Amino acid sequence: MRIISPSLLSADFTKLASHISEVERAGVSRLHLDVMDGHFVPNLTFGPFIIKQIKAITSLHLETHLMITEPKRYFDDYINAGSDTLIFHYEASNSIESDLKYIQSKDVKAGIAINPDTEIDGLIQYLEHLDYILIMSVFPGFGGQSFIENTLNKMKALSEICKGKSILIGVDGGVNLATIDKVYDHGADVTIVGSGLFKANDIQKRFNELMGE
Ligand code: DX5
Ligand code: ZN
Repeated sequence: MRIISPSLLSADFTKLASHISEVERAGVSRLHLDVMDGHFVPNLTFGPFIIKQIKAITSLHLETHLMITEPKRYFDDYINAGSDTLIFHYEASNSIESDLKYIQSKDVKAGIAINPDTEIDGLIQYLEHLDYILIMSVFPGFGGQSFIENTLNKMKALSEICKGKSILIGVDGGVNLATIDKVYDHGADVTIVGSGLFKANDIQKRFNELMGE
């Protein structure tokens, strides 16, 4: 069964509550929240204040994708705001193991995101502390970019390495009707879909198509 985590980055923020109930009705189990600081990535989005408000109106699992420098300075803020999974970037931390352990000590699932040009080798030593690996299939910063094909190899390799472990493999960026099948074929458990879902005229219908139904 496919798991799709809609990225709210492409939602209409003046209608956020109705977009969230629409994807809830469509049958999603989780939401993807893209936090950008204008430093780690050349764009700014929202912070814990908005996440707390989202938490108050939904019981969906909230996965927060931190695209920020020095992520550990802000872990408590994002945990207290209601994140159920907290993902930071491999490229942004110099204390990965203790960061993962800290997040898990707060009863929150811990994840690492890797950029398209980051090799997977460095991740292997952290597998026992990971609940989630987010493979970026675009360079983070903006929704609506094109899927980078050579990230498919990473999906295949990581899904084989993680076989039998309780680590979810997520894929983020450029996942849409044209690319979603190969992403799942290469071992993804979760796909993050932003523009490929929220820009559709009929979100429910698009969700079913993306699910392969
Ligand atoms: C990219 C973000 C993604 C992205 C997904 O920086 O992490 O979550 O917005 O959006 P689409 O599906 O439009 O590529
Ligand atoms: Zn993301």
